[in-house]
Amino acid sequence: MSAERTNGAPGLVTVIIDGREFRVEAGRNMLDIALSRGFDLPFFCWHPLMGSIGACRQCAVRLYWTGRNGEEKSEIAMACMTEAQEGTRIDIDDEEAVRFRAEMIELMMLSHPHDCPVCDEGGECHLQDMTVMTGHSYRRYAGLKRTFPNQDLGPFVAHEMNRCITCYRCTRLYNDYAGGHDFGVFGLRDQVYFGRDRDGTLESEFSGNLVEVCPTGVFTDKTLAGHYSRKWDLQTAPSVCPHCGLGCSTTPGARYGELRRVVSRYSREVNKMFLCDRGRYGYEYVNAPQRIREARVAWRPASQVAAQATQDARREQALDAAAVMLRGRRAIGIGSPRASLEDNYALRALVGSDHFYLGLSETDYDLVGEVIAVAGGAGAGGGAGGLPPGALADVQEADAVFILGEDLTNTAPMLDLTVRTWLRLRPTAQEERVHIRRWNDAAIGRAKRREPSALWIAAPHAGKLDELAADAWHATPDDIARLALALTHEVDPASPAVADLSDAERERVARWAEALRGGRRPVIIGGVSGGSRLLLRASAHLARVLDARAGVGVPGGGAEAGGAAAGGGPGPARLILTVPEPNSVGLRMMGGGRLPQAIAAVARGEADTVVILDNDLYRRTASLLVDDLFRREPDVLALAPLEDRITAQAGVVLPSATVAESTGTFVNNEGRAQRFFSVLPPAGETREAWRWLRDLMGRLDRQEARGWNDVDDVIAALEHELPQFRGIATAAPRAGWRLAGSEVARQPRRFSGRTAMDADASVHEPAPDVDRDSALAYSLEGVGPGQAPAALLPRTWSPGWNSASGLHKLQEEVNGPLRNGPVGERLLGRGLAGGGGASGPAGSARAASSAGASGGLPAPVAPAASAARPGEFVLLPVHHIYGSDDRSMYAPGVLDRAPAPYIALCQADADRLGLAAGDWLELWQPWMDVRAPFRLLMSLPEGVAGVPSGLPGMPFLSLPGRGRLARCDAPPSPEPAGLAPGQDPPDHASASAAAWAPAGATWEPDGAPDGEAKP
Ligand code: SF4
Ligand code: SF4
Ligand code: FES
Repeated sequence: MSAERTNGAPGLVTVIIDGREFRVEAGRNMLDIALSRGFDLPFFCWHPLMGSIGACRQCAVRLYWTGRNGEEKSEIAMACMTEAQEGTRIDIDDEEAVRFRAEMIELMMLSHPHDCPVCDEGGECHLQDMTVMTGHSYRRYAGLKRTFPNQDLGPFVAHEMNRCITCYRCTRLYNDYAGGHDFGVFGLRDQVYFGRDRDGTLESEFSGNLVEVCPTGVFTDKTLAGHYSRKWDLQTAPSVCPHCGLGCSTTPGARYGELRRVVSRYSREVNKMFLCDRGRYGYEYVNAPQRIREARVAWRPASQVAAQATQDARREQALDAAAVMLRGRRAIGIGSPRASLEDNYALRALVGSDHFYLGLSETDYDLVGEVIAVAGGAGAGGGAGGLPPGALADVQEADAVFILGEDLTNTAPMLDLTVRTWLRLRPTAQEERVHIRRWNDAAIGRAKRREPSALWIAAPHAGKLDELAADAWHATPDDIARLALALTHEVDPASPAVADLSDAERERVARWAEALRGGRRPVIIGGVSGGSRLLLRASAHLARVLDARAGVGVPGGGAEAGGAAAGGGPGPARLILTVPEPNSVGLRMMGGGRLPQAIAAVARGEADTVVILDNDLYRRTASLLVDDLFRREPDVLALAPLEDRITAQAGVVLPSATVAESTGTFVNNEGRAQRFFSVLPPAGETREAWRWLRDLMGRLDRQEARGWNDVDDVIAALEHELPQFRGIATAAPRAGWRLAGSEVARQPRRFSGRTAMDADASVHEPAPDVDRDSALAYSLEGVGPGQAPAALLPRTWSPGWNSASGLHKLQEEVNGPLRNGPVGERLLGRGLAGGGGASGPAGSARAASSAGASGGLPAPVAPAASAARPGEFVLLPVHHIYGSDDRSMYAPGVLDRAPAPYIALCQADADRLGLAAGDWLELWQPWMDVRAPFRLLMSLPEGVAGVPSGLPGMPFLSLPGRGRLARCDAPPSPEPAGLAPGQDPPDHASASAAAWAPAGATWEPDGAPDGEAKP
């Protein structure tokens, strides 16, 4: 049982609900218990993660107790505010309680516009469900309704305040949990208003969660409204967010072959019930005009040259062209961290393991490799000597969190929200002293205001979490690494001391060390975003030493260590490391060469053909190098879903499916393999990259992919050849899974229009699309959410509970695991013995010497303190939730919110260079000269320049690095660095076919490749 609910109150008690006895954990509230035991009890203000405030009076029950003289007494009480104690007895079915609940909802509805037919919430509205459940079916109030003006809250969230029932969930989430400052509650009595003080874009990176926590239609998804579909007309499937390395669970919804929205999907270990706005609103890249829908050869869409040909024939033609590039020629393949394991593996099979390159930047190649090494490596039996990678769920068990070098809000947003939630819910001394239950949210909030923070941050510049920290220090990665190593020495004097600490550093080390020593379950958060191997190793070393405290001399490790923690001694430490992309870890585990090696192989004439899988290489390495690759004129075959600077120059382009249109596996930052499933079939000539590659291998008479009929076959081959991936087959049920002969239905029972959707083309009912890769059907016939295996759960729904608030119906208990089996499979740290925690076992790590390796790596040596080099700046990456991920930048709302390119300096450096607002800066690195507007970033250390990472319009820079800076004139017309999101793809007809001009190959007007002419 999670301490989140019990507040550490152990023991079972007997409670009675409607005459039935249950043994439950003491200290939980009776609403939580009733819902967990399957009772239908209405609620509005209670939320499974945010607890109770007793505001809506909707969960009224009759509560019984025994009076002083032994007589039975009772009263109407709110179940969400009633603690389970021995003998607690409530009646949900009590006549007065039933009437009370109906009258309360009637009161709430007095001014409600009753506009369900035109409300975007309709069909998954908790207010609709509760109104039906309480039996309030007749409107008696005939007076004037109170009306409010609505606000423009920006591109993501629509506002219709008249639907509000004053439950306060929105402000609790936005302000109390997500830390927003631009939203609140205004007014009093029946004039209470939830919104901003004036129109304007919601600033929080988690604003989209308002749409899901608001039980009515006040906050709705503005992007969905742009291509609206009723909720019961969406076909849905379980998926994984492709916009950062955390791998949050999502439920995308599609209609008419278009992706219409993304909502969160419950994942107990990762994102719980929430998403960040990049993950929720970045989905529109799937519908972007830059999507590649047709295979093309040297800039002529295959369909253009064979307009009458069937789609299959056009595919064949494209494959023929691709085969010409490969037959008898030396090919290399460049994979991608945003493509699935299956797609990358297929490319590896095509070109051979010796010719497979990962397509990562040098920094990511090295640092993601370190992340895996810290966990003990990715080989069979990996984990020996490593630290188990921490999961987001580990944060909630922490009593102190130390963030080293990461701006979580922008690099791993849901980890930011997890830390905020933990800060709100963690038990503090006062709460324990006065026995405040963690579900008692108002009391928790008041108590927290008096408690010192347990969050400690060291990062290169200020972040949004800083205001919650006990200390937030801004320094270079090297200096943060020095801090981490000095702390390690404080915890374990056997670790080397750090020389030359300044007085200020010594004082800081002393304060942090005190917090560390007092911590029973510390969590260290680091990652790769700063690009510092040293810092990553120092973070791992600190976590390792802290973890070793818990298990020294404790046979078996974890369980005993947990006991030590419970008894007051130190417990296991956790290390959570972030990575940049959805499959960074999976790709690095697969293994392959570096990108510069691939480019060098072309330069040396060792490769005639380069096959590039969904990877804009201009984002990975210097444009000079990528240009050089193309200048050597190898044949380039690109498989990609979207136009970019690579497809613009490739000789053959094969349109590959996005996450929304395919089934595959990503491995997230903690080594969790998670399967995503297509929510709509790939349209036109689009198909999964592995299918293109399989067919290509077939064309070439290669045997590797023979028998790959569905994704399970690819997974089986992958597991067989690469033992580090053993177990991914069990991350989700196979395509052959059936319950009583039925698949899981992607469409809800109420799905409409099936016979009319294609009536413009044919009045005959079309056969549903066939999905060979999963046990999900593009149909409303099939198993529903209640019976589906957890990994195939297509949406949150159960009878009478149409909104996300009905999640408990699909969980073993409130906040517990999903019913019907596991989701995902942990691949890293499996070799570690022992047990405990969301991250699993930690014992063997703890048993090793603390002075030894940092996870699976040698302990780092402290660098010298950072010293300025005259005329030179340290260049550090600055990450942006809107801007650093290129996929989400194809979504207009995300693009709107991204910053323009810039180079940032602190005030002292700006003064030194004589810079004022509006000035431009020129930056020189070897072979690189960049001009961008100057931006003031006060918190940057002196001598450091902040450069936005991954922002369209900024060229790739090797970060961290060093460079020279000077004020310069604004260029007459700044040139974008390449094809940017929002920019039109090049005119295919006019683009130069010279980019692909294999010797001797000619392309006839009918599009038939003269394959034989190829050398
Ligand atoms: S806006 Fe929605 S979440 Fe906020 S108080 Fe009103 S009904 Fe509740
Ligand atoms: S935190 Fe990352 S994985 Fe999660 S929703 Fe946001 S972008 Fe997606
Ligand atoms: S849910 Fe209990 S008072 Fe609102």
